[in-house]
Amino acid sequence: MFDRHSIQLKLAGITFLLLVFTVCSLIALTNAQMETAFGDYISLHLSVMEHGPAETMFIHSVHQSLWWVGLFFILLGLIVTSIIAANITRPLRRLTRAAAAVEHGDFNQCVPVDSSDEVGRLTKVFNGMTARLAQNERAQRDFFASITHELRTPLALLQGTLENMTAGVTEPTPERLFAMQEEIMRLNRLVTDLRDLSLAQAHELRLHLRPTDLGQLAQQCTMLIQPLLDEKEQMLQCQIPEHLPRLMLDADRMRQVIGNLLVNASRHSGDGSHICLTVNEQPDCIELCVANDGPCIPAEELPHIFEKFYQSRSAQGAADSQRGSGLGLALAQQYVAIHHGTISATSTPEDGTAFTVRLPKS
Ligand SMILES: Nc1ncnc2c1ncn2[C@@H]1O[C@H](COP(=O)(O)OP(=O)(O)OP(=O)(O)O)[C@@H](O)[C@H]1O
Ligand SMILES: [Mg+2]
Repeated sequence: MFDRHSIQLKLAGITFLLLVFTVCSLIALTNAQMETAFGDYISLHLSVMEHGPAETMFIHSVHQSLWWVGLFFILLGLIVTSIIAANITRPLRRLTRAAAAVEHGDFNQCVPVDSSDEVGRLTKVFNGMTARLAQNERAQRDFFASITHELRTPLALLQGTLENMTAGVTEPTPERLFAMQEEIMRLNRLVTDLRDLSLAQAHELRLHLRPTDLGQLAQQCTMLIQPLLDEKEQMLQCQIPEHLPRLMLDADRMRQVIGNLLVNASRHSGDGSHICLTVNEQPDCIELCVANDGPCIPAEELPHIFEKFYQSRSAQGAADSQRGSGLGLALAQQYVAIHHGTISATSTPEDGTAFTVRLPKS
């Protein structure tokens, strides 16, 4: 039953051996001292050099009593050390059981912390680790559910339309073919975004860093988004100073960030709304802000908008041509983070919605 390598057995064994050694040494020392003192007493007071049978018996019975007392303390010590060792190692046994459960995929493990010593601290770290693992597992499950949903719906639609066309039920008109092409392009974008996102999260995205003027980059993005603005009769106002200090940036990735913020501002605000793009130099960073009026993001949704696949209720009901997949801001956050910058959002009914990217100068 006992594992000969267990800490409990080692602790109890060492303490027990120490106890046996101490008790035996004490008894041997007491016996020797007692015999010498008794011999001195007899020779001094009775002037006898040799012990008689009565003295020998006395010494023998004292010796025996001492050994019995010693044996009692050794047995008592054995029991006490076993109990102490079992108490010390109990949290370790609990941790071992919980770790074995984690090894088998059950991450919902929480070991009670009943001390603040090294084992207590280890238990706290273990509980933090299992909580994190459980959270990651949940996130991964949600992530796959979202991917499946995002891919299955358009694929089923495309399949249905193609089947109807081959069966001659629907005509392959240019409009229908164009709609199908758009859906395929959206799926393609989704798969590319997913690949880039997973690479960025794993810090495996290869960056092509070059000294870049963020203002010029923003200016280029405004040209690309113009058709979208014209379609919704929206007005874009830019405040971009010339000759900003150049930052070491991957221009393609940053273009994607700014592009997504501008497309979001256009897509998620109404027709005829105002969009404002500003770039400012701050003492330690360059700040880029995209703001728009129109319906704001509800306060309870704001903390979630940078999550993968998150779309507000209003965005989910958008027309197909306006529908995104909810990956744009998650990607933007990752891209900004790998440039050591930050991205944040504010949204109020009075001031509208604003996204601010800060990129450090050094
Ligand atoms: N400027 C904005 N105004 C209002 N809501 C916004 C704005 N920008 C983002 N949102 C909200 O945040 C959600 C997430 O934005 P995100 O860019 O990640 O996804 P998306 O635009 O829906 O799709 P994708 O960018 O992948 O094509 C949007 O669905 C929308 O609900
Ligand atoms: Mg977007």
